[in-house]
Amino acid sequence: MLFYLQNEIDNCSLNLLIKNMSEVNSIANMRRVYQLQSLLEKDANPDPIKQFENWWMHAIETKVEEPNAMTLATCNASGKPSARIVLLKEIKKNGFVFFTNYQSRKAKDIEENGFAALVFFWKELERQIRIEGLVKKVSSEESDEYFSIRPRESQIGAWSSPQSSVIENREFLQENVLKFSSQFQSGKVPRPDFWGGYIVEPAVIEFWQGRPGRLHDRLRYSLSEHHDWNIERLAP
Ligand SMILES: Cc1cc2nc3c(=O)[nH]c(=O)nc-3n(C[C@H](O)[C@H](O)[C@H](O)COP(=O)(O)O)c2cc1C
Repeated sequence: MLFYLQNEIDNCSLNLLIKNMSEVNSIANMRRVYQLQSLLEKDANPDPIKQFENWWMHAIETKVEEPNAMTLATCNASGKPSARIVLLKEIKKNGFVFFTNYQSRKAKDIEENGFAALVFFWKELERQIRIEGLVKKVSSEESDEYFSIRPRESQIGAWSSPQSSVIENREFLQENVLKFSSQFQSGKVPRPDFWGGYIVEPAVIEFWQGRPGRLHDRLRYSLSEHHDWNIERLAP
């Protein structure tokens, strides 16, 4: 009897423990208190590219992991969205540059609908940056220049992968790597004409700084008809 009671108690506490553990681990209960810094109008640079560069330098100094990884969202002609990560390779006065395959799904979307969005999330700094604008190809000279400084392995990789196409198996890629490695021998690997850069020219950039109590700071820069940047605060 005593043993039975003891067992009952054990089962009860076990259930409680399991319940508590599952609450602790549940997605609904996962949240972080954002408290590191603020983003106030008085501190914001009037030019969003400069503001981006300020935050970028801070991300580098504080060793944010892969700060140049950004989500690129595109839409096809029927408005169907798709998103993926690409790497920012250059910050220019007029926008943000990444490189990819010009026959990929994203490239087809961009051909059909020239607008795209980028999102950076720098967890360590509790910061998000959202960029929206028109996407254009960079010049072939710029693509050549960047392609020429890529590791040889990545250059061969660009030739070997018909990005976004269905392929039969992994061997297909490995055979292509062998084929293109022997084609280019040890000489220079030229840039394939189906590979190059795009620039996202921002019309809107929003800087988001996490704050306590979910009262985050959001400053949105929008390009006016006169090509000035208007800054507005958005509710979090
Ligand atoms: C960290 C990271 C960086 C990436 N960088 C690039 C990149 O710079 N360019 C690119 O084409 N794909 C990059 N990819 C792969 C893309 O996310 C995606 O799989 C690929 O571009 C095909 O996308 P699509 O089929 O929508 O065109 C990266 C993926 C990750 C996870």
